[in-house]
Amino acid sequence: MPDTRGQAVWRQSFSVVVAVAIVAGLLLARRARAQAPDASDLAEGMRLFQQKGDCQACHGWSGDGHKTDNQMPDGANLREAKLSRTVLVMTIKCGRLNSQMPAFDKFAYSDGRCYGKTQADLKAYATRMPDPPSTLQAREIDLIADFMMAKIVGKGPMDHAKCVEFWGSDVEACRDVPK
Ligand code: HEC
Repeated sequence: MPDTRGQAVWRQSFSVVVAVAIVAGLLLARRARAQAPDASDLAEGMRLFQQKGDCQACHGWSGDGHKTDNQMPDGANLREAKLSRTVLVMTIKCGRLNSQMPAFDKFAYSDGRCYGKTQADLKAYATRMPDPPSTLQAREIDLIADFMMAKIVGKGPMDHAKCVEFWGSDVEACRDVPK
């Protein structure tokens, strides 16, 4: 009689190995995507940062806090910020309580998804979050976050070389940037 018990055990461990390999593969693929978004995603994230999200109005085009719109509140210098992608995404979705950083998730304060707070709780803060220039979908926030992790967050002061890399060519904005 063949060793069926041994075969069963072998089959079982084989399926465990396969399952582990599949999960590891998926995790690696996710990581790779988070670390290396492709060029067209980065370009779309940059467009959303500049236009729909209008982050630059308060944070400056390079994210250094030199806002492009004088009427807007002073945004933080995001080039010096030490932020994980997770915190970045949450900050964009939920804004910052008691500050002028707006929440871009349409439902941020309707169901407790942000810091467990609702519209009514927000009244308790001295500084009210302004309305966002426009709300953003989860996918758009992901694209902005990928762009920012690649080009802004923790990248230090803008210099001429970084500016050319940022825009893809030596554009007018780079003329005022120190070498
Ligand atoms: C109306 C002005 C305004 C707009 C528009 C705005 N921000 Fe902000 N943001 C601020 C202010 C003000 C702060 C500082 C909040 C504080 O005091 O903690 C801030 C803080 C942040 C922080 C936290 C920085 C840190 O060091 O922890 C991040 C990240 C951020 N903003 C990203 C964005 C992104 C991305 C967008 C566009 C989708 C955006 N902001 C749009 C005003 C703005």
